[in-house]
Amino acid sequence: EKGGYDYFMLKEIAEQPKAVADTLLGRIDASGVLSLDEVRIPPEVLREVDKVVIVACGTAYHAGLIAKYAIEHWTRIPCETELASEFRYRDPIMDRRTLVIAVSQSGETMDTLMALRHAREQGAKVLAICNTNGSTIPRESDAVLYTHAGPEVAVASTKAFLTQLVACYLVALYLGQVRGTKWGDEIRAVVKELAAIGTQVEQVLSTMEPVRELARGLADQNTVLFLGRHVGYPVALEGALKLKELAYMHAEGFAAGELKHGPIALIEDGLPVVVVVPSPRGRSVLHDKIVSNIQEIRARGARTIVIAEEGDEAVVPYADHLVRIPRTPVLLQPLVSTVPLQVFACELATARGNEVDQPRNLAKSVTVE
Ligand code: M6R
Repeated sequence: EKGGYDYFMLKEIAEQPKAVADTLLGRIDASGVLSLDEVRIPPEVLREVDKVVIVACGTAYHAGLIAKYAIEHWTRIPCETELASEFRYRDPIMDRRTLVIAVSQSGETMDTLMALRHAREQGAKVLAICNTNGSTIPRESDAVLYTHAGPEVAVASTKAFLTQLVACYLVALYLGQVRGTKWGDEIRAVVKELAAIGTQVEQVLSTMEPVRELARGLADQNTVLFLGRHVGYPVALEGALKLKELAYMHAEGFAAGELKHGPIALIEDGLPVVVVVPSPRGRSVLHDKIVSNIQEIRARGARTIVIAEEGDEAVVPYADHLVRIPRTPVLLQPLVSTVPLQVFACELATARGNEVDQPRNLAKSVTVE
């Protein structure tokens, strides 16, 4: 059942190109227009939405953080992403014009379920993004967009995360399409580029041997830090979460811009720091800033592991290890930049002799608060 792989996690990482393609299937028509009729919230209701709130836990929360960048950019609707476990306890402000998006692989996470119940009581519309047909969260939501990752067995979420991202991008682009924004041309171009993502994930997977080798060499470390900016920041958080749960290492993700507000004090000789570099195209100012951040940490002794787009030459002098990812539209980069971090965590866990599919103290589905 592991299809020749040692662990379900490895199998599920390898299944990502297909999972991504399956989640796109039938949702973009031949002329590049999104048709999400299955989201049974009528366009006129979506046009009235004046706030989007995303609630989720763990890895699904990281997908939600990335979705915030996409939704605000393409739709101009204010969007907040919140941990489901915090959300309802702060008396959040919602009404019938609020769209709440609950993201959950299992559809059974109690914190997320309680958050969506609270949202519906306040009159908000709830859209579930879920991987499990007929589970509780979609059943209790107004609408659902299923991810088609197939069953995910390993406790650490991989293919479900990538498909959650795809679903979030589809919702963001669909909201943009329904409402009509100044980004119409960009939206059409991105919809087209989404079709290539499966192949690009495949390409990343075929170049992972140096990442595995690097991971094996770090098995004796205590700490690994992750830095990112913009959509790369939640990717850094996700990379750190994977390392915590699988390798049981101290791992933290930071927004690179926060370095000098505290975290840079952690940098010491030989400390491995993974940096997710935004594209030098698009919002290039962010790229330049992160290159300075890499220089700053390296000058203080960090061992830099740099994940950067093909053709990005500016990072080369400061990268102790360079991991290349394909060029994508700026907002879609997490679909490819997350993959090396999954492989990295899985290999480190193996090198440390940990149980990859069943990390200690964790359950696949957290059905208690
Ligand atoms: O089933 P869900 O997506 O609602 O689960 C949410 C989290 O419990 C889950 O993503 C968890 O963080 C994973 N173990 C991360 O790999």
